Parts: sequence; structure tokens; C-alpha cells
Amino acid sequence: MARAGLGSGGHSRLGLANGKSEKEALALINQALALGVNFIDTAPLYGTEHIVGEAIKKKRDKVVLSTKVFPYRDGEVITPGDLHHSLQSSLNELKTDYIDIVHLHGVTPDAYEQCRDSLLPALETAQREGKVRFIGVSEYFQKDPAHRMLQYAIQDDCWDTIMVGHNILNQSAHDTVLPRAQENNVGVIGMFAVRRALADHTMIGDIVADMIARGLYYSKKVDTKKPLAFLTKGGKGRAKTLAEAAYRFVSHEEGIDMVLTGTGNRDHLKANLAAIYGAPLKAEHLERVRELFSGINYLTGE
Ligand SMILES: NC(=O)c1ccc[n+]([C@@H]2O[C@H](COP(=O)([O-])OP(=O)(O)OC[C@H]3O[C@@H](n4cnc5c(N)ncnc54)[C@H](OP(=O)(O)O)[C@@H]3O)[C@@H](O)[C@H]2O)c1
Repeated sequence: MARAGLGSGGHSRLGLANGKSEKEALALINQALALGVNFIDTAPLYGTEHIVGEAIKKKRDKVVLSTKVFPYRDGEVITPGDLHHSLQSSLNELKTDYIDIVHLHGVTPDAYEQCRDSLLPALETAQREGKVRFIGVSEYFQKDPAHRMLQYAIQDDCWDTIMVGHNILNQSAHDTVLPRAQENNVGVIGMFAVRRALADHTMIGDIVADMIARGLYYSKKVDTKKPLAFLTKGGKGRAKTLAEAAYRFVSHEEGIDMVLTGTGNRDHLKANLAAIYGAPLKAEHLERVRELFSGINYLTGE
């Protein structure tokens, strides 16, 4: 079973994206820490590093901090000097002198080799200087839902961690990324467990209708209006909500070590942590979601 980490980006950005204040975002991080979360993911692009820094400044040694370097500017891969500036800015914003994991952020397949060859050495220098403990790479899931970049990255013996989009709708990492990452002892952090599509049932009918129109799904068994309604039905072991089912699905996926939950809602946070540390989906529910979305590698949950 995976552990739970708090994501401070995504559609919520700790609630900032939905009109919440920085004070409320700080309170949310404190709630997560009080509930036992000790992993927080952020990035310069999210505009949340300074809030994370504020939350952890008196308990730095109790928290595993993940941040990122966005490797592009004006469509070109940045220079090692740019990377150094980004890292220094993250250290300042996070009010710390070391970062546990720095990920190259949203690397696309076409830029992978250049990022690896020109930016990894700069990250390794920062590692030798004690500014960075571990080095990772995250994918640009919306542009690369079939995980082409990560399939290259896991062949190379140079990343400590990877961040992969994985959810009920797109389970393709199960075959293409997770086994090799496990073999190579790479830590796997799951993102996109819920996003918009799995927050409730409203979008799933259209997604499955589109799959049927594309000839990707033929079973007559599917309820075309609410294709995943079965997950929240059926007595003992059912999920109370689709979001709960979505987190339970990912947290019990073999090869996922950490599931990020991104929320600005305190009730959601509590429910999501309970789901991530909760039971796997019922065996028959798991079988049906595997069957329904097997072979799908173009959906992200948006
Ligand atoms: N390439 C990258 O490196 C990359 C890309 C994307 C994300 N990430 C990281 O991964 C983290 C997780 O991704 P994510 O933020 O997309 O997380 P997620 O957990 O898949 O989805 C979060 C979305 O679902 C909603 N939600 C969460 N819990 C819910 C619940 N119980 N019921 C209904 N809706 C719920 C949230 O809205 P509410 O605020 O209303 O709860 C939010 O809009 C990000 O925060 C970020 O740290 C990294």
C-alpha cells in the first residue's frame, strides 16, 4: 500500500486556485501534518513554495520536501545556470538549506535526452553540495499520457524518483512504467488520482460514450449514464464516493509508493487520507475497472 503525500499544485493549489487565502492554505498544510502526512510536493510554477516553507519552518526535519525545476523557457531547455537560479529561489522560498527531492518538472519525450544530459549534471552538483538529497523527473501527463518520457527515464540508472500520472481511467503505467521502476528501485510518486473526471460522476458518462464512439469499448454491461456507479454501490467494501474509490484504486497499485492528493478542502483532505490508507477496492470492482479501461492510454482525467 502506498503512503499519502500532499500535493500543492494541480487544480487546487492548496485552495488558492479556488479563491482561498494563503492563511487557509497554510491551515490546510498544518491539518495534513497533524493528520500524519510527512511528504509535501510543490514547485516554483505552483506559487505555493513560500506557504509550504512557512508551514514547515519549525519542523523541517519531520517533513520530506519535494519541489521541481521547470526545464523550459520560451520553448527551449534551460541552461544549468538557470537551473541553479531556480534551485536557489526554491531554497529561499522554502526557508531551508536542503531539499529532499528535486524533480525536473513535466519533461516531454522529445526533450528528455537534452534535459538528462545538460541538467542532470547540475542537479548532481547541487546534490554533492548538500542542497539536494534525491533527484527525480516528472512527466507532462496531459501531453504524454502514454508515458513515453518515463519509459525512457526508467531505462537510465540516474533517477531516484519519478512522478507518474495514474488513475482508474488511464492505468497504462501498470504495464509500461511500474514494473521496470520497481526492478530498478526507483521511488514512484502517483499523481492525477482524481483530477476533475473522478471527483464525481458527472464527466464519466461522456468519457465512456466517447470510448464507445471510438470503438474502444463494446460491453453491453456498462451503464452508459453513470459507468462507475457500481463503485459506490454494493454494500460492504463499496466506496462512499467516486473520489474515495479513485484514491483507493491508486494507493493499492503495486509499484506506486506514494499517492499525492491535491485539495484545498479540509473535509476532502481528511476523506482522501482515509481513502489512501483504506482498503483496496472490492475484488469484483477492481476487476470491472480494469476491464472497462484496459488498454486506454490517452485519458488523463484532465
Ligand atoms: N507534472 C507534474 O509534476 C505534476 C502535474 C500535476 C500535479 N502534480 C502534483 O501532483 C499533485 C496531485 O495532483 P492533483 O492536484 O491533480 O491531485 P488529485 O488528487 O488527482 O486531484 C485534485 C482535484 O480533485 C479534487 N478533489 C480532491 N479530493 C476530492 C474529493 N474527496 N472529492 C471531490 N473532489 C476532490 C480537488 O478539488 P478540491 O480542492 O475541491 O478538493 C482537485 O481539483 C499536485 O498537487 C502536484 O503537487 C505534479
